[in-house]
Amino acid sequence: MTVRRPPALLVMDAATFRVQFGQRQLGRLRALVELADPIRIDDLDTPAARRRLGEAEVLLTSWGCPPLTAERLADAPRLRAIFHCAGTVRPFVTDEVWRRGILVTSAADANAIPVAEFTLAAIIFAGKKAPFLAQDARTHRDDWSYVERRGELSNRGRTVGVVGFSRVGRRVVERLRGLETEVLVADPYAGQDEVRAAGGELVALAELLERCDVLTLHVPSLPATHHLIGAAELALLRDGTTVINTARGAVLDTAALEHECASGRIDAILDVTDPEPLPAHSVLYDLPNVMITPHIAGSLGNETWRMSESALDELERHLSGRPPRTAVTPDEFAVSA
Ligand SMILES: NC(=O)c1ccc[n+]([C@@H]2O[C@H](COP(=O)([O-])OP(=O)(O)OC[C@H]3O[C@@H](n4cnc5c(N)ncnc54)[C@H](O)[C@@H]3O)[C@@H](O)[C@H]2O)c1
Repeated sequence: MTVRRPPALLVMDAATFRVQFGQRQLGRLRALVELADPIRIDDLDTPAARRRLGEAEVLLTSWGCPPLTAERLADAPRLRAIFHCAGTVRPFVTDEVWRRGILVTSAADANAIPVAEFTLAAIIFAGKKAPFLAQDARTHRDDWSYVERRGELSNRGRTVGVVGFSRVGRRVVERLRGLETEVLVADPYAGQDEVRAAGGELVALAELLERCDVLTLHVPSLPATHHLIGAAELALLRDGTTVINTARGAVLDTAALEHECASGRIDAILDVTDPEPLPAHSVLYDLPNVMITPHIAGSLGNETWRMSESALDELERHLSGRPPRTAVTPDEFAVSA
């Protein structure tokens, strides 16, 4: 039986398309859908784009997809499904998408993998204070007296506090299994059984903050999580705690963090900041107990293939009448990234 190949269109910026759709992914896509020129667009308002939108039953979206407003969707009367080849769909999914009952899937699960890997590395380095000792080494050179001042350098028996049992958060908990660490989780939406099954213990946020040696943040950026960790929460941390943020800058109060890090009481490993990037004069750049990376924890390079392959898996499932695995629902929007 030949399966009908629906007309499809890719909506993403050119650079993302080049990285995420190599020969293999394009070959897979062409076997599943009909593609006409232009196969990829990122400006939905040109005459060519409006013509292509008019034909498309399926969109494959990724970074650079503009908002799918009611006006733009009016140009796409046949559209039934959107397969997103990246994490959050927030930048482009509008109420009109839900009103039309269009299926939306996301590759946030696939994107969680490199973030969890990066975080695991950060946790292990935090246990040895490695990023900060590396800074000390630049200034102290062959005088190793600085080592003692960084306190205990060990990963054994440490307590790691994971805030947010999200896609990333739960993977971090699972990956910590191999270490001899105690893992505490704070998340009002998680259940003790699922947290225990992953290897953690569900506790209230205040208890987690008081007990952890390493605090790692994995909540989505939402009005409810804005400055979830502020001055009062940082004050609960013990001296020498390392704060890791690979989530979003706004979940951590930058001014309060600056204050604690400048005093030397708390150390930080930040892949995300608020604002992003930090202004050139930010004190955080200069502190030897702060490591900043330029938002690299998520999928980059061939890691992004996991996301396009995951979207193609969903497309394949959809075309063969099977239910999606990564559908996004309007209700989920309230608590997810
Ligand atoms: N650094 C990077 O490159 C990078 C890449 C991908 C994702 N991220 C960020 O990582 C974070 C996690 O992403 P995700 O896809 O795992 O998120 P997700 O969508 O899976 O998170 C949703 C979950 O977060 C938890 N949560 C919601 N509100 C909470 C609260 N107030 N307290 C505790 N837990 C709460 C709930 O369990 C909810 O189900 C997000 O902030 C995301 O933007 C960063």
